[in-house]
Amino acid sequence: MSRIPFAVMISGRGSNMVALLEAAQEKGFPGLPVLVLSNRPDAKGLATAREHGVPSLCIDHKEYGANREAFERQVDAALRASGAQFVALAGFMRVLTPWFVNRWSGRLINIHPSLLPKYKGLDTHARAIEAGDKEAGCTVHYVNEGVDEGMIIDQIRVPVLDGDTPETLAARILPKEHELYPRALKKALTRMSSR
Ligand code: GRF
Repeated sequence: MSRIPFAVMISGRGSNMVALLEAAQEKGFPGLPVLVLSNRPDAKGLATAREHGVPSLCIDHKEYGANREAFERQVDAALRASGAQFVALAGFMRVLTPWFVNRWSGRLINIHPSLLPKYKGLDTHARAIEAGDKEAGCTVHYVNEGVDEGMIIDQIRVPVLDGDTPETLAARILPKEHELYPRALKKALTRMSSR
C-alpha cells in the first residue's frame, strides 16, 4: 500500500508531533511525514522535527497582522508544495478560517485535551477539575468550521484524581495523547485510502 504524504502543524513543544513522526517510522504505517510547519519561529518542535529528518518550516502569522486568510494562503501553498495530502494539527494554536478548513475538508485533524464535546477551547484541564468531573481525557477529531467541533475519530479516557491540579491532570493525559494521536491518524489515513 502506498503511504499518504502528511504534514504536521505545530505552535510549540511538539510532543504530539514526535509521537506521529515516530509512529510513521513503523513498518506498515499508512502515512509519510513530509513537512512540519509552525506559525511561531520559537516553536521548540521545529528543531525536533529536523532531528527526526523531517523538513520544517515557519510561517510567522504575526507578519500577516489581522489578515488570517493571507497567512493561511501561504500555509496552504507550503503544504501543497510539500506534497502533503493530509494535515494533522498538533498543538497548533491558531483558529483556522472556513476558507482553509474547507480546502482541507476530510483531510485535516486535530488533537484536543478533553473528552469532546466537553470543554472546547482553552483551559480544558482546569475546567474539568472545577466541574468535579471524575473522568477527563483527549480526543482526535476532524476539523470543521467550528472550534473543536468536527467528527470525533477516537478518544482516550483517564481518571481525575482527588487533589489533581491542572498540571497533574495534564501530565496524566499527555502520554495518552501520544498513544491516541498515531492511532487516530492511522485510522483517518486508512479511511482516506479506501475512499
Ligand atoms: C496538547 O495537549 C494538545 O492536545 C493541545 O496542545 C498541546 C500540545 O502539546 N492541542 P505538544 O506541542 O504536542 O507537546
